[in-house]
Amino acid sequence: MVEGINHQWLLARTPTEGLPSADDFQWVEGAVPDPADGQVVSRTVYLSMDPYQWVRRRSGVEEPGGVCHGRTVSQVMASRDPQYAEGDYLFNTNGWQEYGVTGEGITNFGYMFPRKLDPDLAPISTAIGVMGMLGLTGYSGLIVQCDPQPGETVVVSAASGGVGQVVGQLAKIRGCRTVGIAGADEKCAFVAEDLGLDACVSHLAPDFPEQLAAACPDGCDVYFENVGGPVFEAVLPLLNPNSRISLCGMISQYANDDGGVPRDAWQAAGQAVFDRQNVTVHDLFVGNYVEDYQEVFLNEMGGYVQEGRVRYREDRWEGFEKAPEAFGAMLRGGNFGKTIVVVSPE
Ligand SMILES: NC(=O)c1ccc[n+]([C@@H]2O[C@H](COP(=O)([O-])OP(=O)(O)OC[C@H]3O[C@@H](n4cnc5c(N)ncnc54)[C@H](OP(=O)(O)O)[C@@H]3O)[C@@H](O)[C@H]2O)c1
Repeated sequence: MVEGINHQWLLARTPTEGLPSADDFQWVEGAVPDPADGQVVSRTVYLSMDPYQWVRRRSGVEEPGGVCHGRTVSQVMASRDPQYAEGDYLFNTNGWQEYGVTGEGITNFGYMFPRKLDPDLAPISTAIGVMGMLGLTGYSGLIVQCDPQPGETVVVSAASGGVGQVVGQLAKIRGCRTVGIAGADEKCAFVAEDLGLDACVSHLAPDFPEQLAAACPDGCDVYFENVGGPVFEAVLPLLNPNSRISLCGMISQYANDDGGVPRDAWQAAGQAVFDRQNVTVHDLFVGNYVEDYQEVFLNEMGGYVQEGRVRYREDRWEGFEKAPEAFGAMLRGGNFGKTIVVVSPE
């Protein structure tokens, strides 16, 4: 039996506003669960903040009264599963709570299966960042869907964020000209100077479309879409014939009146470019790539991280009580890097 209190953030209601507010969440104290046969109880160390969580909450996938969903890095505190020992670190899906149960009969992980982490291979927080779902998302959309060739121009939006930083660096490794789009000047400087992309343009600049065109003198062959809206509109005229788009996300639309689900917008935009320029539009859902590509991705990315060829930036929020604040900041563009809540020390 694990001693302690299990603080949890529940979804208080199906959100009524376009962006999160404090009233959407409820802080409660529960008991630390006991593991049954084939299960472990783990202590949440890092909790991942992801834009898709908001789409789930707004569209009713998550029901009020339940613990908010979230990917986690955690440490096994009690084990009745021979695969895992006390002290092991896991990637799992404890959600927004301090302790969770993983194993037999627990299916909250969806398409991202729990796995044991090797702290000597990469810092364990990367399991919810470059070495996790976000990294695989970037890899699947860029490498598998769009297959960028040396010398081609790759444009990526939200380039300093969790997915974007992976995409830009992988495109660079493939020998492409890489152009990032980000908001604040310090984010653009990070993308160009620290991540090493060839250029980064701020979508906040009044002449953003002109600046983007100037940064892409040979047009755009691959566009990795994270944002939508005016950013997408600025990229459209730059697309070369036979270019490819990975429609990964449209975060600028998540506060819309449509429950935050931007799929109609994706399809309309995709059809428009397809009709005009023989552009291939890939609708990306990372869950479709786990089975075939997770191992390949982990091997390749693990090497890049160890060699320092892929760098990453985390936006850490210390303290589990700050989860709703961190979540809201990320959705409003207030994050700088992959947003992580530090729930307890490693
Ligand atoms: N398809 C999939 O399977 C899949 C999987 C994971 C993630 N995603 C998607 O990937 C995208 C990036 O996710 P992430 O976790 O890596 O988040 P992130 O990029 O770390 O954070 C979101 C960033 O989006 C930008 N942003 C927010 N509102 C914006 C607006 N109105 N206009 C322009 N930019 C805005 C902000 O960057 P700036 O300040 O630089 O503008 C913000 O920092 C999201 O759209 C997400 O839904 C899709």
